[in-house]
Amino acid sequence: MNKKVTVIGAGNVGATTAQRLAEKELCDVVLVDIAEGLPQGKALDLQEAAPIEKHDAAVTGSNGYEASAGSDIVIITAGIPRKPGMSRDDLLKTNTDIMTSVSAEAAKHSPGSILIIVSNPLDAMCHVAMETSGFPKHRVMGMAGVLDSARFRTFIAMELNVSVENTHAFVLGGHGDTMVPLPRFSTVAGIPITELMAKERIDALVDRTRKGGGEIVGLLKSGSAFYAPASAAAEMAEAILKDKKKILPCAAYLEGEYGISDIFMGVPVKLGTKGIEDIIEIELSESERSDLNGSADAVRSLMKEIRQLV
Ligand code: APR
Repeated sequence: MNKKVTVIGAGNVGATTAQRLAEKELCDVVLVDIAEGLPQGKALDLQEAAPIEKHDAAVTGSNGYEASAGSDIVIITAGIPRKPGMSRDDLLKTNTDIMTSVSAEAAKHSPGSILIIVSNPLDAMCHVAMETSGFPKHRVMGMAGVLDSARFRTFIAMELNVSVENTHAFVLGGHGDTMVPLPRFSTVAGIPITELMAKERIDALVDRTRKGGGEIVGLLKSGSAFYAPASAAAEMAEAILKDKKKILPCAAYLEGEYGISDIFMGVPVKLGTKGIEDIIEIELSESERSDLNGSADAVRSLMKEIRQLV
């Protein structure tokens, strides 16, 4: 029997994730969304591409959760973008409510699944999903680090005019502004970029990576990035479905690792069939540690805000 992955939210990120999973023939995919006809229409369209893309993965769409039952993985991309007149708090409350309801459904219909959270604000949404689902921490994780490091790798490859395949980037911390890239562990063909680029250039690439999401929003005008986020979510799912034991930067619930407790943060983890099978800890310099603590403070204050809103 094929593995089964449900993608909740059939918008840009969700539908593109479904496409990536199906075209790599990793699993059957169920798309779930509240918008009537949307998941059914996108699923049918993706299914009709199958003869040309040469895969036999089944892609189905639904407004309910029955079709998602027994999924190995549930990827959550549901959410709403900020609308005119909506405050940041309104948006936070709405997206927290959406995460609460969809993760409860995911846990009910796929009690043995692994949750990959994509909806923003990422680290806080992971927390909401873990509390609602009641799943153990190794079965709830967030997609951010794979995307942030892919952006960093892209910029490193562009800067040095080398293949992206030669690049490796190491990032820690929360998603976006407070992300903590570690240039000394970021390499090209195994050579740390600190030996290949001047500090100013590295700083410029780091800054562009931190603001990577905003750069795309600025260009698109409406909507946010979805091709690279979908690729990142699909890479995490692949590592789990194939039990690859792949080390990837993911948002994980920390209980003392890196001296941080009780919040989700981006750290290198080993992904396999059980979900997060290990958290890799490395020795940080004083400034890296202080950046990471700053990132943890930002996640903590967002969690506090959420607890006051709901
Ligand atoms: N249940 C199921 N689907 C829902 C729900 C819900 N309760 N509420 C909203 N949705 C669906 C919307 O109908 C929409 O189709 O979530 C989808 C979101 O899609 P888009 O608006 O296209 O957003 P997208 O660009 O895919 O981003 C989704 O991923 O990267 C993050 O910041 C991004 O949080 C955002 C999420």
